[in-house]
Amino acid sequence: MAKIKTFFQCQACGYVSPKWVGKCPDCGEWNTIVEEKKESRPRGIPAGKTEPQPLNTITSGREKRTKTGIKELDRVLGGGIVEGSVILVGGDPGIGKSTILMQAISGLSKKQNTVLYVSGEESPEQIKLRAERLSINSDRIVLLAETSLEGIIDTASKMNPDTIVIDSIQTMYNDDILSAPGSVSQVRECAARLMFFAKRSAIPVFIVGHVTKEGAIAGPRVLEHIVDTVLYFEGDRGQPYRILRTVKNRFGSTNEIGVFEMTDAGLVEIENPSELFLAQRPLNVSGSTVIASMEGTRPLMVELQALVSPTTFGMPRRTSIGVDFNRVNLLVAVLEKKAGLHLGGMDIFINVVGGLRIVEPAIDLGIVMTIASSLKEIPIDPKIFMFGEIGLSGEIRAVAYAEQRIKEAAKIGFRTAVMSGNNQERLKDSFGLEIIGVNNIEEALERIGI
Ligand code: TYD
Ligand code: MG
Repeated sequence: MAKIKTFFQCQACGYVSPKWVGKCPDCGEWNTIVEEKKESRPRGIPAGKTEPQPLNTITSGREKRTKTGIKELDRVLGGGIVEGSVILVGGDPGIGKSTILMQAISGLSKKQNTVLYVSGEESPEQIKLRAERLSINSDRIVLLAETSLEGIIDTASKMNPDTIVIDSIQTMYNDDILSAPGSVSQVRECAARLMFFAKRSAIPVFIVGHVTKEGAIAGPRVLEHIVDTVLYFEGDRGQPYRILRTVKNRFGSTNEIGVFEMTDAGLVEIENPSELFLAQRPLNVSGSTVIASMEGTRPLMVELQALVSPTTFGMPRRTSIGVDFNRVNLLVAVLEKKAGLHLGGMDIFINVVGGLRIVEPAIDLGIVMTIASSLKEIPIDPKIFMFGEIGLSGEIRAVAYAEQRIKEAAKIGFRTAVMSGNNQERLKDSFGLEIIGVNNIEEALERIGI
């Protein structure tokens, strides 16, 4: 007899509790614990069929990859779709997940691959409308409106397609689990079943995952563990730019990004994003500078803006968009202590233009210089760009990939690079640019002329 087990699970982190609580003891979120039910049936999984093998007796073939033909997507995947891999594509609703997958499978269908597109959200007619808008038509793209995982795996086993797309995992359900579709146990179980199917059949599976309002894929950590690759589709809804970012990749490097623009005919790849992000830069205004940042293996020049103004309330406001808030606070403290700037009574706003989010410490120098430029109302020469990490004693430290950053800047017409003295010494080529090496904040302010 099947037994029904009731438990309470956090929808944010997957923590299981025997009783209901208001706050998840694991991740600290409020009101995320919901009741879930599971039917525990004895499962007939044959145990212990595989033998342990010494490492040196295992022969490895290179993984077989299929290119989608969308270069930005292929690079983010590490050079194409790996056979039997499970790729999770996460992002806000309406950001373009279904669109990019439609375009990717169109590329695959042109290579004589058949694709099974399973949608639990849209009817085949709606999908057809989107395909028409993208000028996609093929008999190799097969649509299936289904939400039962059993049904999907059944159809997929019979049809044996070359690729499967599941749009989205939150709409799928598994009969074994009594919780509603979209709950952590359903999402996890469905993803695990799909993973098992992908590995056994060597068919790659794309899974679309929605993002909660906090910005994580629902049932996030549980899902990220299960799949091979996690891609996040980011971007501001008000802006046409979209960034596809690798968060995890068992078959390639992480931190790669692909840049797209949403147009009325779908997503268009942007091969030279630096030019795009700098296109509308105001010249000769204070509180703006360009930094050379690395996104994975790719250099990216972006504009960083700061606005510093006297606070009208007792507590000065600090806001940062696109960079870590705590990092900005730390750098403000260093600026006050080491360069003697008075920022205590100032509101400070920092913004990375174009809706980008930059996590590497190489932008420190840019943050500090834009704040100083805005405070003193002295513009930074628009032909200057900079990169460098700043330490707590105000020293400017070397960062990796200096040559790549300079090369990218030279390509789009910058004349002067400001970096750590250490970086300058180790530089092998300056690509025709004037290089200014600085060792601490004061020196940097002086050389940049603020
Ligand atoms: P969609 O791929 O449906 O988003 P998701 O699957 O992530 O929820 O994209 C929906 C948005 O993209 C919608 O607001 C309309 C816009 N869009 C375009 O601007 N051009 C296009 O060619 C397409 C297909 C969509
Ligand atoms: Mg969609």
